[in-house]
Amino acid sequence: MQTSHENTKKNENQLIDASKATQQEDIRTDRSFDAIADHFEKKVYGGLKGDIRLAVLRRDIFEYSTQMRRKLGRPLRILDVGAGLAQIAIELATQGHSVVINDISANMLEKAQARVAQIDKDWDLKDLDITWYVCPYQALQDKLAKDTNKFDLIMSHALLEWLAEPAKVMDFFDQHLTDDGALSLCFYNPASFDYRNLIMGNFNLLDNTDYKADNKKSLTPNHPVAKEEVESWLAAHHYHVVLTSGLRVFHDYAPLKRGGHNDPDAVIRMELRYSQLEPYKWLGRYLHILAARHA
Ligand SMILES: C[S@@+](CC[C@H](N)C(=O)[O-])C[C@H]1O[C@@H](n2cnc3c(N)ncnc32)[C@H](O)[C@@H]1O
Repeated sequence: MQTSHENTKKNENQLIDASKATQQEDIRTDRSFDAIADHFEKKVYGGLKGDIRLAVLRRDIFEYSTQMRRKLGRPLRILDVGAGLAQIAIELATQGHSVVINDISANMLEKAQARVAQIDKDWDLKDLDITWYVCPYQALQDKLAKDTNKFDLIMSHALLEWLAEPAKVMDFFDQHLTDDGALSLCFYNPASFDYRNLIMGNFNLLDNTDYKADNKKSLTPNHPVAKEEVESWLAAHHYHVVLTSGLRVFHDYAPLKRGGHNDPDAVIRMELRYSQLEPYKWLGRYLHILAARHA
């Protein structure tokens, strides 16, 4: 039988353990997707959600990159940080651009490389200009050769919300963008979390200020950055906004799949149309800001 002194000691130890665990949870680190690469591929890009995301990004980025190429009279140098499966970067490479693809996760880039191997085989494209770097973006500076460390376009899609210190990535962009370069910044929209939970009636979750998704598997980031904050960083770093779009402005909010919702092509067509219209675009699950440096 335990004495009351032993019980008190045990309770104290439990409290210390709990406090250590909380401290560890509070220490934020960048989130590698190594352990959830398969889950991410299936969940995010295995269906219509991913098709909508790619359709909006393709429209926004390819129109701008085509104009920029015409203006510069040469293919662009493009960097994708936290690229994951790197679909857009790979497509830009098939258009003849010179592309550098980076991710902290080797498993994610392995999947992207398998896709490139398949494209090479199917389309007989032998010479895609792609360089791969598996490392945190913070280590890229040392790996890029001095003469090739500036880019005309840097893409950072769904990375901000997984970084321990998201604001710091702006300094990296400053260092590696050409004077008239452009930034394609896509990030999770925290307003969409609230709105979706309002629609779904998850009021308890909205009342719980300590709510944290279980990030071992969940793809809902616990540290999203609000649009206003991103806009203030862009202003402080002397960018002007070229365009803004919302990604999935209605698809995720429709619990009832009726009418046009049963036709994936129609959903993509409507998502594209409303992605750039006020006020709908601000409810996108993700926001895309294309911003250029003040030359
Ligand atoms: C949500 S995924 C987005 C992937 C892709 N950009 C997309 O939009 O589909 C976030 C990616 O960022 C990567 N990542 C996290 N921290 C990073 C860092 N410090 N440097 C480079 N990549 C990082 C993860 O491994 C993961 O592949």
